[in-house]
Amino acid sequence: MKAGVLTGGGDCPGLNAVIRAVVRTIHNAGGETLGLLEGWRGAVEGNVIELNPEITDGIIDRGGTILGSSRTNPYKDPADVDRLTDQFQKLGLDALIAIGGDDTLGVARRLYSERGLPTIGVPKTIDNDLSSTDVTFGFDTCINIVTEAVDRLRTTAESHRRIMVIETMGRHAGWITCFAGIASAADYILVPEIEADLEAMCELLLKRRATGKPYGIVVVSEGAQISGDAGLVIQDEEVDDFGHVKLGGIGDLVGKIIEERTGIETRVVTLGHLQRGGPPSAYDRVLGTRLGVHAARLAIDGKFGRMVALRGTNIVSVALAEAVDTMRALELDILDEAGEFFQ
Ligand code: F6P
Repeated sequence: MKAGVLTGGGDCPGLNAVIRAVVRTIHNAGGETLGLLEGWRGAVEGNVIELNPEITDGIIDRGGTILGSSRTNPYKDPADVDRLTDQFQKLGLDALIAIGGDDTLGVARRLYSERGLPTIGVPKTIDNDLSSTDVTFGFDTCINIVTEAVDRLRTTAESHRRIMVIETMGRHAGWITCFAGIASAADYILVPEIEADLEAMCELLLKRRATGKPYGIVVVSEGAQISGDAGLVIQDEEVDDFGHVKLGGIGDLVGKIIEERTGIETRVVTLGHLQRGGPPSAYDRVLGTRLGVHAARLAIDGKFGRMVALRGTNIVSVALAEAVDTMRALELDILDEAGEFFQ
């Protein structure tokens, strides 16, 4: 068995745990693993490194990915898909394990269904917005980083009697904002799933101040929907290979509106890529390891076109075709529970 492994899309805490587990499990079965560098770019260019348990043993605590990543989409140019297919044969791969979000996994799905390549997917994203899996690794680390950041920002908010607006990542899903907002006792959260009522938010912030809480914490998703506004705040009109715009900047808009409407001094912090950096939490290391072991076992058993997933406490596999079909929005029940604290 010669397996390839690659990481695509945004880096995410826990990727190295998956790589380590894949390499170890394939090795235990007498096989070998090649690492394809920088996502699908490495697959198109045949840019690989040999991996073994010695190289990967000490990487579980490292953030990012030792293989590098990119948002390369081989389907942007059909010639690249041909090149990738040729490289696959040249390298003599029996299986390719792609670790990524919906874009990376979408490519794995098409390579399997349209080219018959033996691909397997492992879901990853800090955004936690992939359907077919209960949780994605990276999310836990991310919400811990955001929670700690808000805890620290509260110090200044309280001392200066200010409102702090914290902008979080998550694209079009509010998981990060909602979970970190609950964990850090935010006064209000704004997520993409529900159009935010800024009037109600400002009234609440004023009410809090009048009833003895002289500061406020607002956590806002980069993709939040704001009432009466022109929709998403986009940082850059340019789109990546998969057609995504760069979000960001909504925090500034929200901060300005709060200051104007309440007269309370308001500051904005955009956490950005800090949310994806640094060592993975123990939870993400364990989840990444379990997914990696099961992905490698699928390869060993010759079960392709599938994605490993967490269901309850079990690791299962689902068809890639069904796994990448829809985005998983924040569950409204959780938002409703959080709402007890935002009134
Ligand atoms: O999907 C993960 C994510 O971190 C999103 O939350 C965010 O919008 C995006 O990636 C940022 O991507 P980049 O690293 O390309 O700026």
